[in-house]
This record gives sequence, structure tokens and C-alpha cells, in this order.
Amino acid sequence: MKIEFHHGPLAQIKSPLLAAWGFEGGPQSSGSVEALPSATQKMLEQLHASGELTGKAYECTLVHHPAGLAAERLLVVGAGKEEKFSVAQHLRLAGTAVRYARARNIHQLGWVAHKAETIRDAVEGAILADYDADKYRSDRNPEKRVDRLEIELGETEAGKAEVEAVKEAQVIAESVNFARDLVNEPSNRMTPALLAEQAVQMARQFGLESEVLGTDEIRSLKMNAFWAVAQGSSEPPRLIVIQYMPEAAPHTPVVGLIGKGVTFDTGGISIKPSQNMEEMKTDMAGGAAMLGVMRAIAQLKPKVRVIAVVPATENMPGGRAYKPGDVITSMSGKTIEILNTDAEGRLALADALHYARLRGADVLIDAATLTGAVTIALGNITTGVFGWNKEWVGRVLASAAATGERMWELPVDDEYRDLYKSSIADIANSGGRYGGAITGAMFVGEFAGDTPWVHLDIAGTRWNYEEKPYLAKGPTGHPVRALVHLLMNLHRA
Ligand code: BES
Ligand code: MN
Ligand code: ZN
Repeated sequence: MKIEFHHGPLAQIKSPLLAAWGFEGGPQSSGSVEALPSATQKMLEQLHASGELTGKAYECTLVHHPAGLAAERLLVVGAGKEEKFSVAQHLRLAGTAVRYARARNIHQLGWVAHKAETIRDAVEGAILADYDADKYRSDRNPEKRVDRLEIELGETEAGKAEVEAVKEAQVIAESVNFARDLVNEPSNRMTPALLAEQAVQMARQFGLESEVLGTDEIRSLKMNAFWAVAQGSSEPPRLIVIQYMPEAAPHTPVVGLIGKGVTFDTGGISIKPSQNMEEMKTDMAGGAAMLGVMRAIAQLKPKVRVIAVVPATENMPGGRAYKPGDVITSMSGKTIEILNTDAEGRLALADALHYARLRGADVLIDAATLTGAVTIALGNITTGVFGWNKEWVGRVLASAAATGERMWELPVDDEYRDLYKSSIADIANSGGRYGGAITGAMFVGEFAGDTPWVHLDIAGTRWNYEEKPYLAKGPTGHPVRALVHLLMNLHRA
């Protein structure tokens, strides 16, 4: 999507579609509609009085040959109640306009930006909305996209800050879409080796250092917990390592980003029911998100050092698969009794976290589709956040709030440790059904040692199950935006 600035009187813009938004109750004169000429507002007033235009969230009202405007069409998007307005809403309004236009074969959109500080959200929302998970449909129409977004500034001129904001927004949204593409691929087209190839290619494109460890290296490093998961598959595992080490920031802390990269999770010997098992192609969404974050920061260049570690593997049953009752010595030396081979993510993460520490990470943030339990607690709307270090948990939550990616802290507490005690080893890989998201998180945290650690359980938020006016059904790319925000602000701080 090409983004351009346009300044000059809104009345004179010759666009196939100009879009603005207004609040519920007074959409004819509030929000960015405020910036439209009075003749246009008068016309909208009539639509409002007749009940056609209400301003309810995401309501789309299209007017052809709108009074007071040279544009062919005006789209008014409802912003909902003013008191409920948030950052996230801006993204969604622009996204709604984009998807409305696309569906009607309109390729160019003028977005009325009455306030310069909203431009960045509008651009992000527009690019995120212009995504569809339709790669494998023969009837997909690649023409049906908005290929030009014009930011209509009215009388104000775009300054350096606005140009910068657009560039950042573009990099971030495209990196989210990159992660979404990886998640969307089925497991036959996104094996651990193929995921590693994608990662290396991305790293090369954006000037990042990358390393990929294969079976022999994983085994000789004694990543036995990761290997236990991988050993049952005929697809060899990969440990993907990508580094962003800017010369301009030699003494900043190293942030370790660890992403679960299970390219398909059958459950292994503790096999999952076949119903909905196809969804387990998304079990590498945490890894994909971390690659998306790296792709973004490689371009945005914050002054912070980052190392991403993605353990990529399948979890398969078979003659060589690990089994319930097995005892494994993890890379850290902690022994683990396997009670359920479907609790595989925490095993891969255990060694990946330990490895990230050995590689110099001063703080660990992991993202993983770790538990069904987190979806019971928070649904598909909110990511579960866990960690002992309140400062870092706070930073993550603040970035979530700033970007509109919903996150909520769930507790960690020593009393939950009893749930994953083992009668034979140091710990067991399952804590049972009760508090499953918490015990899963805490198990992972056991391998962070004394390094500050934050865990994001994205089992729910990885996927959007129902098309929204502003978002396609399919992968969401959570939590790329929040994490990029976090890294950008460490550098600004
Ligand atoms: N990948 C699953 C979690 C999951 C569930 C992700 C639904 C996305 C949607 C994970 O590996 C898993 O199977 N977890 C088990 C853990 C249990 C065996 C302790 C679960 O949640 O049932
Ligand atoms: Mn599993
Ligand atoms: Zn899994």
C-alpha cells in the first residue's frame, strides 16, 4: 500500500472515496467529520436526523456525490461512544474504511486526518486491514486491495514527525503481516526447516545476523527437552537464532525474545482429538511473532540489543516419539518427568530460554501458544501475561495498552508449584487442568533462573475466528505491535 500525504482544502479533493469518522450520537459533526465543510456536515445532519447515520461502532454510511465535496464518495465510519474511545479504535476505524473500499473494488482511499497524532494509528490500521488469508484460493482477487492511501491533512502540512510516523507505522504493520503469513501457512508448507529458511531470508533482507542449528547441534548442546519433542517427527528440528546488535548501542541490555515454534502439534503420544486439530498449524505463532518483531526493529533501529531464539519442531506420535513417564534432563540440568506429551511447548521453551541466557540475554520475553487454559480464562481477545518481575511485566502491559493489543496479567505464585511436582524428577511437564495457564507459565519460568522474565500466552489471540469490519479472519500477528513498541521505548527512555 502506497501512503501519500495530501494537503489543501478537503472540499477540493478529487478522490474516488474520502473517509472520515464520527462518534455515536453526533456523527455529523464530531471526530474527523468535524474537519469537513459545513455543507457536508449539514447533509450528514439530515442523514442523522432520519436515523440512517448513527455513529455506532463500525457503521458504514456511504454518500455518493456528497454535498460540499469534490470527492466522488464520502464514507462515514461510526466510532461508537466517545467515552469508550481508545487508541485501538483509531486503527479499527481506518481498517474499516479500507475493508469497505476493498469489498467494493475501490483502490484508492482518502483518509481525513484531522489530528496529526492519529496518522500513525490510521496507517497501521489500514495496512493490517488490507490483509487476507486467501493465498490458497484460486478465486482470490489480488486486484481487490487498497493500493493507495492518501492522508488528507486539510490546511496543515506534513512535517518531519508525520513523515516519520507513517514510515514507522508502515514498517510495523508490514512486519505484523509478515508474521501473519508465516502463521497462516499449513504445516506441510511450514516445516521447521522451512520456517528457518524464511527466518534466514528475512534476516538477510534486513541486515540481521542469523544462525540455524540442526539436529546434531541441538543434541550436542544437550537441549534434551527440546529434542524430546522433536525426536518423534521425521521433520528435523531447527533452533533459529537472530540477532540485532546495533553498534550504536554497545552497552544496552540484551533483550531475549523467545517464541514457541511448534509447526504442528498433534499432541504426540498423548494425542489430541481430531476435532479442530488443523488449528495446530498455528502453534508456531509465538515464533512467527518474534521474527516479525526482529523484522520491524531491523528497520526502525532502536538503541537496544536483541536476540531472538525460536525452537522450531513438530510434535508427532510415532515409534521414536517421547512418551509419558519419560524423564528428561533439560539443558539447564533440571530433570523433567513427562506426564503429557501434549505439554510440549514448555519443553522446547525450557531449553530455548536457557540457551538465550547463555547467549547473554539480560531479560527474557517469551510468546507462546502455550495453553488451551488461557483461552478459557481470557478468550480470543486478550493475551495472558505472566512474570515474577513486576517492572518488566509493567513495561509489557504499558506497551500493550499503548498499542491496543489487549493483555492482562495473571498471577504466578509459589503455591502453584505443588501442582507440577514430580514424584521422580525435579518437576513434571503438566500441572493438570486447574490453573493450567499459570502452571504452564511457571514451568517455563523455572528456566529463566534469576533473569527477569515475562511470558505471553497467545493461544487465544493468535487467531481471529470471525471476520471483523476491520480485520480478516485468520492470523492476527499478536503481539508484534506491543513488543516493537516496548523495544522502541526502551531506546527512547
Ligand atoms: N498448543 C497447545 C495449546 C493451544 C491450545 C494452542 C489451543 C492454541 C489453541 C499446547 O501445546 C497444549 O497442547 N497444551 C495443553 C497443555 C496440557 C497438556 C497441560 C493444553 O492446553 O491442553
Ligand atoms: Mn500441545
Ligand atoms: Zn502446542
